[in-house]
This record gives sequence, structure tokens and C-alpha cells, in this order.
Amino acid sequence: MAFGHGKVILLGEHSVVHGRPALACAIGRGVRADARLANEDRLEISPWNVSVVPDPDAAEPLSRAFAVALAEYGTSRPPVIVEAEVGIPGGSGLGCSAALGVAVLAALDERFGRNRSPVARGEASLAWERVFHGNPSGVDNTMAAVGGVALYRKGAPLEAVQVARPFTLVIGDSGEPASTKSMVESVARQLRHAPEKVGRIFDAIAALVQNGRLALEAGDLAGFGKLMDLNDALLSSLMLSTERLESMCRAAREAGAHGAKLTGGGGGGCMIALVEPSTADRVLSAVAGEGRDAFVVEAGA
Ligand code: PMV
Repeated sequence: MAFGHGKVILLGEHSVVHGRPALACAIGRGVRADARLANEDRLEISPWNVSVVPDPDAAEPLSRAFAVALAEYGTSRPPVIVEAEVGIPGGSGLGCSAALGVAVLAALDERFGRNRSPVARGEASLAWERVFHGNPSGVDNTMAAVGGVALYRKGAPLEAVQVARPFTLVIGDSGEPASTKSMVESVARQLRHAPEKVGRIFDAIAALVQNGRLALEAGDLAGFGKLMDLNDALLSSLMLSTERLESMCRAAREAGAHGAKLTGGGGGGCMIALVEPSTADRVLSAVAGEGRDAFVVEAGA
């Protein structure tokens, strides 16, 4: 069974689109997929009840993305049905479209006997991700394929980060629908209108990312939490947060989290809080009380 990881961006979303580094971590949840020979090409996605055929000109992005994925395997292959099972909320900042793209490619690779490294598969799935996100940095598809905790910078090799101790995250879903594409466009507009001011914000986030890497390598989770809070404030200054996301972050901090921030595209979607295992339950109920759903993941093991 092929798998694409969901991910959270620990620090550095949005500035990563503009060449700054980001720290990201794969989560155990993601998308599973399997490909079997059939009479026609089809992509079936549960539990969404979605079934599409590949069509490069379709209005439905999944049809276009599936056509892009299949194009890699040439025209002399037999038709396939790919069955995918999505285990993370879509459109919420957890890299669902990238996890789906990587799982679909991995399933097709398995079926057609193509051997390639996770890094190469991540690169190949950027074309899928472009169908959904317009101008993706590449962090989502890379993390979906490679997993682990890593520092990502556009155009540079992925740097694995050796964390000194595993850490626990509470992920809270605000339930507010979010469009990464329109959030990325909004930040690009702000950058055009005020290049110096927005450039300085990106540089400040880049400094948080470099310090965050050191904190994770040293096992300084309290220090890392403070960097998350600062990153959240900078993202809010770019109008990427919402009242609900901020009340979820506040509730997490008050319940004892080391730090909290929105994660991914923003404008809704998910937030994350860094916690000690002993405070996970308390933070989980505080976050769930302000949002729609929350769950706990272990990372960096
Ligand atoms: O919302 P998600 O899970 O697709 O995360 C997007 C991360 C951004 O930095 C906002 C965009 C990107 O392409 O890196």
C-alpha cells in the first residue's frame, strides 16, 4: 500500500514561497492508495465519495491532476483504477492535496514497477500540487514523500533535522474553510505593494526558523514554543489568521502549551500547539472547545 504523509509547518509558511527556509514535520496521518488494473482510468477517493476520470481540460482540478500524474507513465500502459483513502482533513493546512498526489504516484509506481527515491517522487508530484496551489513552494509535496522533520528551502536539497527528543503536537482544526491558493496570492500582493516591509517580515521569520532548528536539535521545547508564538504574530500581521484560530492558540497557551500558531496557508484551517505529554489532554480539550476538532500527534521519533 502506498502512502503520502500529511505534514505540519512548524515555522516558516508563506515566507517559504519567497525563498526563505521553513521547518516542517510529517505526521503519521496521511493518504493511502492502491492501484489495480481495470478497463478504464479512474481515481476513487474515500471517504469523500469522489470518483473522477483523468481529463487535462476538466473544470474539476482532481481530474486535471490525475491526468498530469498518469502522463508520466506514457500511453502504452494498461488502464488503472487508483483507490485512495484520505485520513486528514482537506483544505486545512495539513498538506492534504500533496499527500494525495504522492500516494497516487507511489501507487502507480508500485503497479508499473517504477523504482525511484522518495525525494524524486516528491519532485515529480510538484506538477500535481501546481494544479491545486498555483505557485507552491514545494514543501508540502517534498514532506509528503520524504517524511520526518526537515528544513526546506526552495531549490535546495532537503535538510533532515535531528531532533534531540520527540515532541507532541496538538493539531486543532478551526472548521473554517481555507484556500491556500488565495492566501498565497494575498501575501504576494502585499509583497508587491510594500516590498521592504513584507521582506523584513519574511527575514524575521527566516531568523525564527534558524533558531527553531537549533532549539529542536538541543531539545529546547520551551524555547521552540516561544518561536512559534512569534511566528504566529508575524503571520497575523500579514492578515493570515482568523479570530477563531487566534482563540484556539490562546486557549492552548493558557492550558499550558509551550507555544501555538496557525499552520499552513491560514485564513482558516488548522493551528498547532507544542505540548509536553503531561499537558496534551488539557490542551487538547481547550483547543477542541474553541474549534471544530483536535487531535494529538507525536513527531520526531
Ligand atoms: O495549506 P497547506 O497545507 O497547503 O500549506 C501551504 C504552505 C504555504 O507555505 C502557505 C504555501 C507553500 O506552497 O509553501
